[in-house]
Formats: sequence, structure tokens, C-alpha cells
Amino acid sequence: MAKIAVLGYGTVGSGVVEVMNINSSMIARRAGEEITIKYVLDLNDFPGTPAEKLIVHDFEQIVADEEIELVVEVMGGIEPANTFVRRSLEAGKSVVTSNKALVAKHGAELLKTAKEHHVNFLFEASVGGGIPIIRSLNNALTGDEIEEITGILNGTTNYMMTKMFYDGADYDEVLKEAQDNGYAERNPEADVEGYDACRKIAILSSVISGCYVNFEDIYTEGITKMTSRDICYARKMGMTIKLLASAKREDEKISAIVAPFLLLPSHPLYNIDGVFNSVFVKGNMLGDAMFYGSGAGKLPTASAVVGDIVDAVKNRGRDVMAAWTEEKLELKSKGDAKRKFFVRMAGDKEELLQKVEAAFGPVTVITLKDVSDEFGFITGRMKESIYEAMAAGFSNILHMIRVEE
Ligand code: HSE
Repeated sequence: MAKIAVLGYGTVGSGVVEVMNINSSMIARRAGEEITIKYVLDLNDFPGTPAEKLIVHDFEQIVADEEIELVVEVMGGIEPANTFVRRSLEAGKSVVTSNKALVAKHGAELLKTAKEHHVNFLFEASVGGGIPIIRSLNNALTGDEIEEITGILNGTTNYMMTKMFYDGADYDEVLKEAQDNGYAERNPEADVEGYDACRKIAILSSVISGCYVNFEDIYTEGITKMTSRDICYARKMGMTIKLLASAKREDEKISAIVAPFLLLPSHPLYNIDGVFNSVFVKGNMLGDAMFYGSGAGKLPTASAVVGDIVDAVKNRGRDVMAAWTEEKLELKSKGDAKRKFFVRMAGDKEELLQKVEAAFGPVTVITLKDVSDEFGFITGRMKESIYEAMAAGFSNILHMIRVEE
């Protein structure tokens, strides 16, 4: 029998206890032995819940207990999570976490610590909620050079963008709904500013490159500047707008970005709506593959955590995760990425078009019915640094959204 401890009884922690209770016999069959939760660490007591008799308040009790072979860290945040995870690994206990902030910042060193102590550090739930994307990259797509990973990796913002797009819903109202449904981060800024998606694509980039990709090096733009007018233009163009997190191999380097993108209906991520996440992967042998599923929420995230628990118990004493080195990967500069740009410009189209085309080259103009004080255009494909240099000559640009082809 394997005995484990869960650190944190919040949304994910309570989900883990629920999944372990509901599916206990099936989990035991798949792991090859029974798995029991001996402790749940939290500051509160939770009387009347399934964790009532398991709650402890002192991490030392867990780390000192030799019966505990695996620790589940679902507290979130960097500290004390990092210290608890490191000490658990050093004490010879495998660790499973859903904490993307921790994995993005300290993944390389924690993987190294796990290896040194012959235990596992697994983090499937840190990216894409219930979608088994890390396991697929780590175990299945190992014969391929991964050329691209582009994903909708944040359920909250996808839920918000979908509601804004189809229902014309108001930004604050949909954010509140996402929070009430338990999708949003404790600080919703992490979702709407793109920080959460940024950490997730940094983790995936580290997995595919085998080097440490620093999330701080990834250009990140959230959805806070998105307006209903942008959505009107997208509809007029037959496109949608999605917050994408993308890593592409270009000229021997990885180019990574998190930003809202306009997508045509032919794009594989066009139809990914609501809280769902999806990851498009292109391998140099495989070609295209798509992963789709619930990217946030209590039970989908807990499902991924429990999958890791089973994996760690089944593979006791064997290294499951391919580590990435602490050597930092130099990303391709954002200015070198080539794409098309949609631009909304204040003023009269007839008066400005000549100047616009003199700067950006031939553009496709988009106008909205009953709107005469601005117009939109899509540029040809160009380096982002060229776009920026040209755009600097205009003080009347209202908004720019990148176009994903
Ligand atoms: N806040 C995150 C999201 C939770 O909305 O996707 C899952 O990481």
C-alpha cells in the first residue's frame, strides 16, 4: 500500500481527495496497489468534509513520516510550496504538483533534486488542466523534433473571450462568472494579463527543448485591452480572437509568445470555446496533432494530479520525467517573428490609406457599418520589428492584434 499526503485543501486539493475516494478501486488496480491519503496539510480544519480526519497543520509531521512515499503539492504560489517540495524530494518522497508558477520557476532544479534522490517530480496538471500534454510530449512523441506547440492554455480567458464573442457579454461580468466557477487564479490578473499562459508555454518549451526556458523572456500580452469593437472587426472578417500561447522552432531557435491572435475558421484552434483548452502540436515526423479537454476546474485538474500519483507509484525507483537542464535557452527575439498584423486606426480611410500603404505596403481594408471615425486593415506578412518601426510613424493607431495563419 502507498501512503501519500496532500498539501493544500483548496479547489484542486479537495478535488484530489474526491477523485481518490470516488475511483479508489480502479486507481488501486491501475497502480497495482492501494493508495491511501494519510494527511492533508492546511491551515484550516474543514469539519464535515472528507478531509476532516486527515487534516494536519505542520509540514514537519509529513516530511518526518517515513510511511509517506509521495507528496501532492496543490497549494499554489512559490513559497512555502518550493521549500516543501524540495524538502519532500530530499527526504526521498516523490512529488506531484499542479503548480505552474513553481514548475516554471524552479522546475529544472527540482527535477535535478528528484533525480539525485531517485524519486519522481511530476507536474501534468500544471499545463492544460486535465489534458495529458506533458505525458504525451515526455513519453509518446519522443521520436519527433517538436516544431510547434500552439495552445489555448488558459481556461478563464478562453471562457471570457467566448462569452464576449458569442453573447456580447461584458468583461467584468464574465470574469466574475469564471471566478465563481473556480477557473480563475486567486489573483485574476494572472489569467487576464496572460501570466498563467506564459508560465505554461514556458514549461512546454522546456519539455520540448530540454533546456530551461525563462518565462520572463517570453513576450506576454493579455486580453485586458480587448474591446467589443475589436470583436466586431473579427466577426466582419469571419475570424475569431483567441489568447494563444505559442512556441515555434524557427531557424534553429524557439520563438515564443503569449498574445491575443485573430484566427481564421481553418485554424485548428478556431473552434475551441468556453473553459476548454487545446494544444496544437507539430512534430517533424508526426505532422499535426491536437489535444483537447478541460483546462481548468476542480475535477479535471485533480484527474491529472491523480494520473501522476498512479504513475509515480507504478514507477517507484524509476525516473519517469525527462529533465531539462538549468542552462537557459536563448529565445528568438520577438522582433524577428514574421506575421500579419490587424490594425485599427482612427481617422478617415480615404485620407489615410495612401500614407498607410506607403508605410506598410499593400493592406486589406476592413470597415464597419455606421462607423466613420476609424477603420481597420491587415498588413502583409512582415517582421514584427518592421511593423513596430512603421507603426511608430502613426499616432492614431487604436489597437493592433496579431494574425495567426
Ligand atoms: N486559472 C487557470 C485557467 C487555471 O484559467 O486556465 C488552470 O491552470
